[in-house]
Amino acid sequence: MNARLSAIGMYAPEKIVTNHDFLSMIETTEEWIVSRTGIQTRHHTGPTEFTSDMCVAAAKNLAEVSGIDLSDVDMVLVSTVSPDQPMPSMACLVQCRLELHHSGALDVYAACAGFAYGIVVAKGLIAAGSHRKVLVIGADNLSRITDFSDRSSCILFGDGAGAVLIEADEKGNIGETITGAYGEGGADLYLSGFADKINGQEIVMNGKIVQNGRRVFKWAVTTVAEQMHVLAAKNGLTLDDIDWFVPHSANLRILEAISKETDFPLERMLESIVDYGNTSSASIPLALCKGIREGKLKSGDKVMLFGFGGGLAYAATVVTWP
Ligand code: UT7
Repeated sequence: MNARLSAIGMYAPEKIVTNHDFLSMIETTEEWIVSRTGIQTRHHTGPTEFTSDMCVAAAKNLAEVSGIDLSDVDMVLVSTVSPDQPMPSMACLVQCRLELHHSGALDVYAACAGFAYGIVVAKGLIAAGSHRKVLVIGADNLSRITDFSDRSSCILFGDGAGAVLIEADEKGNIGETITGAYGEGGADLYLSGFADKINGQEIVMNGKIVQNGRRVFKWAVTTVAEQMHVLAAKNGLTLDDIDWFVPHSANLRILEAISKETDFPLERMLESIVDYGNTSSASIPLALCKGIREGKLKSGDKVMLFGFGGGLAYAATVVTWP
């Protein structure tokens, strides 16, 4: 059995944080933020809104927009690095709140690559014949784990969620996949609380994101530019056949550097960084929804989704858009 991505939904919190808002918090300029990252705004949750709330909102949006009944979903996969708490899983909270009584529930933990990893896992479950209708959600509440005293990272992160439905189908529209990791780079991007635990220090549950931006930037551009060709070839395609490239939106300059490295035109990339900042697991579905809203993404288009980030890990696939 093949896997078909059949519907998409999204959610972004109401509160919008502008670059101007950072001027009173850290030593920075609006010009620095825009020229180094491309970010104009990001959305932040309030004190009473959590990752699970955003997951549920994105799933409800998917159901509303597509008109598809979710009651027979048989697996919920949630990708996040900022769960409400480590246990129960976000997938269990979503399964409960959406009353998906016949569904299993599992969180996928692969940072900014997590949404793409979720699609890889969903496709595998369907190919194995054990599941027929999988809800994959990428959601992150990064404002909760941002170090607002670190000027090089606090301006980057935003909150949001995106959901896709993946169903068993004779023909399918999800192509071959790739996955990989460079664990040696783990220290370049991590949650401080958990690292303290690894070092035998006191366990801190409210960890903050620590990033060596330059090193992650270089790894991302080199790896993605190289693996785009590998993935295209695995699908019997070249990059010329790809209508839209949708990488994790970490920084507009990463998209520009990948474009330069591969000759893939920037105009055929979809991003969510400008309006939403870096939303980790949510960035790819937010970019897809933005592409749909702007009338760019059309039925039949070949779309390469490429998640990369903390781990350092990556996963990618090619979807023929439904
Ligand atoms: O989502 C997971 C994957 N993550 C990524 O892919 C992130 C990849 N990395 C990046 O996006 C970029 O490296 C950053 C946006 C994080 C940083 O941009 P950069 O161009 O690599 O800047 P930098 O860290 O090399 O810093 C350049 C300068 C430094 O000053 P000096 O040492 O040259 O005097 C920083 O202190 O910019 C300074 N700086 C700032 N200045 C004004 C750092 N942050 C700021 C700031 N405002 N907010």
